[in-house]
Amino acid sequence: MNGQFKTTAVLTGLVAAFLGLAGAFRSDLWDRTAPVSPIPLVNLSFLSTNTVRTNYADLIRLKADLSDFDCYACHDEKKPPSLRFDTNQNLVIPEEHSDIVMGHGGHNRNNNCFNCHNETNLVLLQTRDGREVKFDYSPPLCGSCHGPTYRDWEAGAHGRTSGYWDRNLGPADRKQCVSCHNPHKPPFPPRPPAPGPHPLRAVVPPTLAQERGP
Ligand code: HEC
Ligand code: HEC
Ligand code: HEC
Ligand code: HEC
Repeated sequence: MNGQFKTTAVLTGLVAAFLGLAGAFRSDLWDRTAPVSPIPLVNLSFLSTNTVRTNYADLIRLKADLSDFDCYACHDEKKPPSLRFDTNQNLVIPEEHSDIVMGHGGHNRNNNCFNCHNETNLVLLQTRDGREVKFDYSPPLCGSCHGPTYRDWEAGAHGRTSGYWDRNLGPADRKQCVSCHNPHKPPFPPRPPAPGPHPLRAVVPPTLAQERGP
């Protein structure tokens, strides 16, 4: 009898203690949540899967303005443009092409327009061994001087392959050199690093909290 009474007393005591604790938690007696600064939203450019450049083939697909590529709107078909140089033998870019900044290789090594453009037919590119290359697919032009990089690119070790792994589902899309390198100034532009992960005990930003409800 005595044993059962003890058990009841202990259980009642425990229930009372837990109810007390529950009440205390509910009324937030110990408000210890350390202030956590709100997580700044990530710049959406970090989530973009686009390449850094929009090349000629992209412009066609996007039905964008192609007037820069309409060479014979300004040039005479019978007269190739002549290159002008200043007294230091540096190429002078005419005002109509002021959006072009040349810087291909150290010491202006590959700044001659006709290393790549065909002087007798401006709407085509040309390789040093005389092959004609169209603007909408220029990797063979780059490959004619950058053989090792071109081989890496063909094998998928340089550049980027998008599209499908499973070729039964759709084609792979190997991004062109000019999707990443400006042909006139090819060094890859530096990019700011994406922010690191936020530490634990993150605070849900108010906008998300609203979407998720209480
Ligand atoms: C808005 C008009 C315009 C368009 C479009 C245009 N050009 Fe020109 N370009 C000029 C003018 C003006 C000059 C300077 C005079 C000249 O040499 O005929 C020039 C000069 C050049 C030169 C000589 C550059 C130098 O440094 O001396 C080249 C090469 C050239 N253009 C190539 C092209 C090619 C290739 C295209 C098409 C992909 C093109 N241009 C489209 C207006 C244009
Ligand atoms: C006529 C030959 C020739 C063609 C065509 C050519 N390049 Fe180059 N490229 C060079 C030379 C020369 C250099 C400089 C190498 C050096 O300075 O050591 C260079 C340098 C570069 C660099 C390194 C830039 C740097 O400063 O780190 C890149 C990237 C590049 N080219 C990309 C391209 C791309 C993309 C194409 C096609 C649109 C292309 N090249 C077409 C000759 C060429
Ligand atoms: C290394 C090769 C190379 C050299 C050198 C080069 N170009 Fe180009 N250029 C290209 C390629 C490739 C494209 C097409 C790029 C694309 O698909 O976005 C192009 C595009 C253009 C265009 C049309 C788009 C634009 O940017 O306006 C013009 C005009 C042009 N080049 C003029 C010139 C002139 C003028 C020179 C000399 C001062 C020159 N290029 C030197 C490879 C070259
Ligand atoms: C998806 C983007 C991308 C594509 C597509 C791409 N490259 Fe590059 N390339 C880069 C980056 C990033 C670097 C490294 C730049 C750095 O180190 O500053 C680079 C470096 C280079 C260099 C410098 C030397 C080296 O090998 O490190 C050359 C030359 C070059 N690329 C040529 C090409 C050619 C030619 C093609 C096409 C056949 C091509 N690239 C396609 C992104 C690309």
